[in-house]
Order: sequence, then C-alpha cells, then structure tokens
Amino acid sequence: MSSSSSRAQESRLRFSSVLDRVAAYPKAGGYRLPDSVALMASNEGPEPLDPEVAAVVAEAASGINRYPDPGAAELRGELSGLWGVPPEQIGLGNGSCDLLIALGSALLEPGANVVYAWPSFSVYPMLAQLTGADEVRVPLDGDTHDLGALLAAVTPDTRLVIVCNPNNPTGTSLPADQIEDFARAVPSDVCVLIDEAYVEFSDVCGPRELLGLVAELPNVVLLRTFSKAHGLCGLRVGYGLFGSSELVEATDRLRQPFYLNHLAQTAAVAMLHRPEILDRRVQTQLASRDELATGLTDLGYDVSPAQANFVWAQLPEMDGLSGDERTAAEAAVVAELRDAGVLVRAGTALGEPGRLRISTGTSEEQARLLAALAAR
Ligand SMILES: Cc1ncc(COP(=O)(O)O)c(C=O)c1O
Repeated sequence: MSSSSSRAQESRLRFSSVLDRVAAYPKAGGYRLPDSVALMASNEGPEPLDPEVAAVVAEAASGINRYPDPGAAELRGELSGLWGVPPEQIGLGNGSCDLLIALGSALLEPGANVVYAWPSFSVYPMLAQLTGADEVRVPLDGDTHDLGALLAAVTPDTRLVIVCNPNNPTGTSLPADQIEDFARAVPSDVCVLIDEAYVEFSDVCGPRELLGLVAELPNVVLLRTFSKAHGLCGLRVGYGLFGSSELVEATDRLRQPFYLNHLAQTAAVAMLHRPEILDRRVQTQLASRDELATGLTDLGYDVSPAQANFVWAQLPEMDGLSGDERTAAEAAVVAELRDAGVLVRAGTALGEPGRLRISTGTSEEQARLLAALAAR
C-alpha cells in the first residue's frame, strides 16, 4: 500500500496480505449527482420511495437512539409468513452482498474453491480474494448459464457454487426445472447459492418457483434483496432463504452485531405490508425495459432476452473487431452518453467488450439516451 498522507511523518503501517488479493469496488458511478444526470448504471430503478413508506421510515427515525433489533424479529416473521420458510432458516444482511460475503467467508478457505459462471455479478470474485480460496469461472453459453459445464466444474474441493438467475449483466433467466435438476445433481456437501436479486422481474423463474428446493435440500440458499424491485438500495437490506439453519448460524457468526439498521428493517417491513407498491414498481420498470430494448434494437443494437430491470446490448457493427477495438468503440459511446448526462455500465468492466448494461430510467431519461445514440 502506498501512503497518500500529507503529514510530516511517512506512514509505516503494516497491512494484511489479503489486500494484495482484493480489488477495490469502484466508487465512481455517479452517486449523489445532480438530479439532471440519468443514473442508468446500477439497476436501481428511477422511481422514488413511495410517500407512504417514506412516512413510516420518517416516523421510525425518532427511535434511532437505540440499537436495532439484532434478530430483526418482525422482518424475519414477515418473510417467514410470505415464503413459508421457518424464521431460523432466514438470513438477513446489510444488502444481499453482506450476506453473500459472510456466507463465502463461512464456507471458503485456502484449498477450497468456489464455482460460478462468467460474466456474472462483479462481487463474486471477492469471495475467493477475501478467503484465499480458488475460483473457477465457467464461461456462459452465449448469454446464459451453462449448467452442465458448471456441474462438471464442481470438484471435491468445491464448497460453493453460484447461479445468478436472472444473470447480471446479461439479464437472462433459466426456468425452475433446469435449476432444480442442477441443484439436485450437485453433491450435498456443496452449498448451491441461487442469486435471485432480480427474481421479481422474471417471467421465466419467479419468486415462488424455487421455494420447493429450500424445503428439500439443506445445502440450497435463495439470495434475495430489497435493493432492486423494492427500491430500498439506499438503506441496504437483503435476505436469504436457507435450506438449513446451520448455514444461517454460520454466516451470522461472522458479522458485526446489529448489522441491519432500524430504518432498513422498518422500510422492508413497510414494503412487505404494501405488495401493491412492489407490483406497481415492477410493472413500471418492465414497461420501461421493453421500451428501451425496442429503441435500442431499432438503432441496430443486439439486445439479449431481458428478464431483469436492465438490458444487455451489443453495439452495432462489432463483428470482426478485436477485443481492444470493441473496448474503444464502447468507451466512446459511454463517454458520449456521459456528455449527454446519462450514465450506463460499460461491458469491458463486466468482462464483455463492446456491450453496454443499461438500467431502466424515466421516460425522459430513456428518450435522452436513445436520442444521443441516434445522433452518433
Ligand atoms: C446479481 C446481484 N446480486 C446481488 C446484488 C447486491 O445487491 P444488494 O447488496 O444491494 O442487496 C446485486 C446488485 O447489483 C446484483 O446485481
């Protein structure tokens, strides 16, 4: 680590070697920028918090002089009732990433490995980096998970295999029967994590379709979040439906006390009490996504079948170009969009040069993006 201190004395701090392995999560991305900038890079959805939920959260703010409920009993009880999973088989986290990292830390160590498809969610590589385990990245088949190849990659050293369904960044989703067959075929001493961050948007494999697996297999986890469809990413709250309480207890041991703050717990419960708000948000974002996909297709972009609140689009005329040429073309588009006040995610950073991952925006924001692309 280099010191950037302006003090008279140079820092002589000694850091853990884990920092040699772990890449910093990018902080750029446009947070807290002026409202005029269209944030279409982080799959958040543009709709603000519903005023009714905002009022419940505002009222709860007077209670933040006390620590939050460490067991999040009310939220856990609501989730248990909704999904029919015993409360002790529900894990919670400060965002689903928190739960994912704790689960990875509970399972992985040097000599073990984690298997996942690539390109997929950019946090998965952190699991091996943090724990010193090996990682096995299995290429997608086109834009979709290759479950046969994932299964073939599982070895006696594998402790965790991850399927992202729908997949970030490609937006594709596999049907429940294929995921079920896969999970049943994985050896029972390997944890099968199905990351369902975008499940509410999928009409291929919806939120109830894999619940049977949780009841059947102790090694399965369905990872969920309130960040996307529910629109609570600024509060950070995620959860997992675990096949066994043993796995929940293991992840909980690796977290700081009171990891889920009071306002996050309150807002999540308020959203669960108002399913019509969730439905409205999902319908709005699906309509926006389809409009975006049509607009991009009309401009010659090759858009993958989308099952989440974003699209994955290849720039026109990429055939025959080298990776570097694709990266250059993509960087030019991203820069032009930034100049037009629209932020999108570049494919190169996600392992696929020449592509863009574009999250749904408001009608005006999407029109601005399409106009900027049409003017090139
Ligand atoms: C596939 C996937 N999983 C998990 C997350 C993490 O969400 P959070 O930590 O906000 O719950 C994301 C966020 O982008 C994601 O795309």
